Amino acid sequence: MTFSAGLDESSSSITPATVLKNHSLSHLNTMGLAASAEAFAVFHSMSDLLPLLDAAAHRHWPVTVLGGGSNVLLADRVDGLVVQSINADIEVLQVSSDNVLVRVGAGKCWHDWVRESVQYGHGLENLALIPGSVGAAPIQNIGAYGVEVEQRIDSVIGFQISTRQLRRLSREECRFGYRDSIFKRELSGDFIVTSVVFSLSRRFQPNLSYGPLADWESRQSVPVSPLGLIEAVSAIRASRLPDPATIPNAGSFFKNPIVSQALAQCIGLEYADMPCYPVDDPACCKLAAGWLIEQAGWKGKSLGKVGMHTRQALVMVNQGGAVLDDVLSLKCRVQSAVYEQFGVRLEAEPVIVGRCR
Ligand code: EPU
Repeated sequence: MTFSAGLDESSSSITPATVLKNHSLSHLNTMGLAASAEAFAVFHSMSDLLPLLDAAAHRHWPVTVLGGGSNVLLADRVDGLVVQSINADIEVLQVSSDNVLVRVGAGKCWHDWVRESVQYGHGLENLALIPGSVGAAPIQNIGAYGVEVEQRIDSVIGFQISTRQLRRLSREECRFGYRDSIFKRELSGDFIVTSVVFSLSRRFQPNLSYGPLADWESRQSVPVSPLGLIEAVSAIRASRLPDPATIPNAGSFFKNPIVSQALAQCIGLEYADMPCYPVDDPACCKLAAGWLIEQAGWKGKSLGKVGMHTRQALVMVNQGGAVLDDVLSLKCRVQSAVYEQFGVRLEAEPVIVGRCR
């Protein structure tokens, strides 16, 4: 293993055996926060990863896994070793009359995989253009337009750091929930996803339940095709959500809050147009955080170098040169404004990584 001094290379130009000291992570997080890792390395296989973990253990370094960096808020300094998978391999494991099991490397770009997935089977089309990597998808159970990735996950394969075991977790063992999984809870900081096994349907049954997709379908003169649906989802996302390549952001900044029916009805008395969605528990319902933030007056409003996006109040954007403290200040202001007006507590969706000042 080679140790080399701080360079600012993109991950694609780094070879697995090299550990880079004081490596800039600024281009490896879509929020564009200035950050550096004490040590950084990429891996393709377990035989790359194991010596890296040994070296980290020897130095008492904490280990952090970075995927596409699209759901993290990085502190300016991340202590220890940061690792990132560059494995984008695709392998068909099993084909049955209904389903295809396909294993995909954690380092594969999520949107590229969604586009390629239609060659094998269906069910991921609605998740097009979500930023990030395949390995990050199960962590927060990414979802959009009526589909959550858990519906198409057979199992998640990875390495548990504390037990030094290669594990395969079934969908049930992943304990998926709304933007939630075991990887954000019991296994937080202790599991490195190396690949994900998807169970794709061999029949294309598009989910067009989400309003804008139903509208789009009603304007089509030919039956919806898998690639057509991917293009439509991509166009809807592009019209509403800022592209991290031009306006740095971490997607939805808050989860849509689940509140009691009693509280929702109470708010509804004053705001008849409030969006409210059913959840499994009939005593509760899900509100739209973007709507609450807009009503609280924060849509398109800035605080220092960060702001809530003008077209989608749920997305916090970096207007240039922001650091984690800027993000946390705005987060608190928005949470307080929504709580004061509605009595609803918003929970941030992205995960904070590194040392806070
Ligand atoms: N709304 C407003 N003002 C806003 C934003 C939204 O009034 O500024 C209202 C909309 O009019 C709509 C409701 O809030 O009535 C919900 O908005 P939308 O359908 O745009 O979806 P969302 O709840 O804001 C969620 C996901 C997105 C996903 C979309 C589409 C969460 C936290 N976010 O957003 O996921 O793309 O649905 O399915 O669940 C992400 O996780 O990073 C993400 C972008």
